[in-house]
This record gives sequence, C-alpha cells and structure tokens, in this order.
Amino acid sequence: MAQKIVAGNWKMNLSAGEGKTLVSEIVAGDRSSDVAVMVFPPSLYVQKLSEVAKNEISVGVQNFNPNESGAFTGELAISQVKSVGSSIGLIGHSERRSLFGESDAFLKLKVDAAIAQGFQFIFCCGEPLEIREAGTEFNYVKNQLEASLFHLSAEQMKNGIIAYEPVWAIGTGKTATSSQAEEMHAEIRSWLTEKYGEDTAQSVSILYGGSCNNKNAKELFACPNVDGGLIGGASLKAESFLEIINAF
Ligand code: PGA
Repeated sequence: MAQKIVAGNWKMNLSAGEGKTLVSEIVAGDRSSDVAVMVFPPSLYVQKLSEVAKNEISVGVQNFNPNESGAFTGELAISQVKSVGSSIGLIGHSERRSLFGESDAFLKLKVDAAIAQGFQFIFCCGEPLEIREAGTEFNYVKNQLEASLFHLSAEQMKNGIIAYEPVWAIGTGKTATSSQAEEMHAEIRSWLTEKYGEDTAQSVSILYGGSCNNKNAKELFACPNVDGGLIGGASLKAESFLEIINAF
C-alpha cells in the first residue's frame, strides 16, 4: 500500500515568523498518524523549520541543483540541503518547468542526483490547458514521466512519490473533478505496473495537486488511486491544511 501523504508547497509566500507559526500549529494540530505530512517552505527557512517540526512532519525544499558544488550562483546542492536537516525536495513543478525553463533532460539529472545521494523527491507532472483541450493529456504526461523518471529501476522507484498537477488547475481555483483526477492517476499506476510490476506500482504514492483545498480534498482522496495531495494556496493556513490532512 502506498503511503498517504499531504504536502504543502508554500511557493514564494510567508515570512520566517509566519512560517514558524504555521509549522508549530501543524505539529500541535489534531492529525491522523496514518498520513505523512510535508511542507516545502522557501529554502531560507528550512533549517529553522526542521527544528520546529521535530521529526513530526518533513520539511523539504522546492528546488535544488543536480551538481555537487561549484559556480552555480543562487543554487543549492543536495548535500547542502541535507546538512541543514532536510532530506526531500520537489522535482518538475510546472512553475519550475515553465518560468525557469527546466527541461525534461535537466529534471532527469535532478532525479539521478537525488537517487545517487539518497535524497527523497516528489516528481511533478501534468498537462497544460491546450493539451487537455486537444485530448492528448495521457500521452503528454506519459512522455514527461518517460523522459525524466521511468529510466529508474524498480528498486529505485519503490516507495517513490509522483504528483499529478494539471497546469490548468494550479492556482486557478479550477480543480480537476475527482473522476478526471482518478482517471489520470489510474493511468499512471498502470504505466508503473507495466514497467515495474504490481508490487512497485502499488508502493508509489500518487498525489493530486491543483486547487485542492479543504472543500474538495475529501472527494479527491476517496479515489482509489489518489494517495494524497500537493497543496499550494490552501497549505498556507494551519486550519485549512489540517482539514486537508484529515480529509482521508
Ligand atoms: P494550488 O498549487 O494548490 O495553489 O493550486 C498547487 C501546486 O502548485 O503545487
């Protein structure tokens, strides 16, 4: 069975003080122990927030660089992230792809660096609106996974985390319906089964992201192939985030 996960992607929001309050409230909140909780704050806060999180929730980075060290102004190496107490990062978020030009090939380098250095990651995929309108979303998402992730071995893929985030639903208030989400998640699971076998496919957590909130999480999480969510806007307030965590 795949781990149930609710992860908050704060993006470029909240001050250090607000972040500390939010993590303290999540840690102190009434939460089901079956759900792994993660937050992805701005990297500057990761060290402090890892202390506040007291191993009750994971604190990860929204971005890292696949190189080990050197002349990469503004970037963070995996070893540096690990040295401040964090062991997980996002890869392939649509904003990194579209606003910062991260290509499939570059994302593959990030995947390989993470695997080589024992760094966990959530691999994000999802189609833009024009692809959904053209009806080619399954091919599009499969290509993203094949280009950057599906070169891994079954052993490396085991217990992995994939987030399906249709770009047209991110930050737009336009959530995928539970049947649209389930349909894509079931496809992703079937590609995993084809490539890696049933055991590995069932061990991978497939999260939904894109305007998931405390109103729609229950219905989305009730889908058999939806193992949780990657939450943007609704992760910035403890009350709504805790409601999402408890929506299973
Ligand atoms: P949203 O963002 O929940 O604000 O739509 C999700 C994400 O980008 O991960």
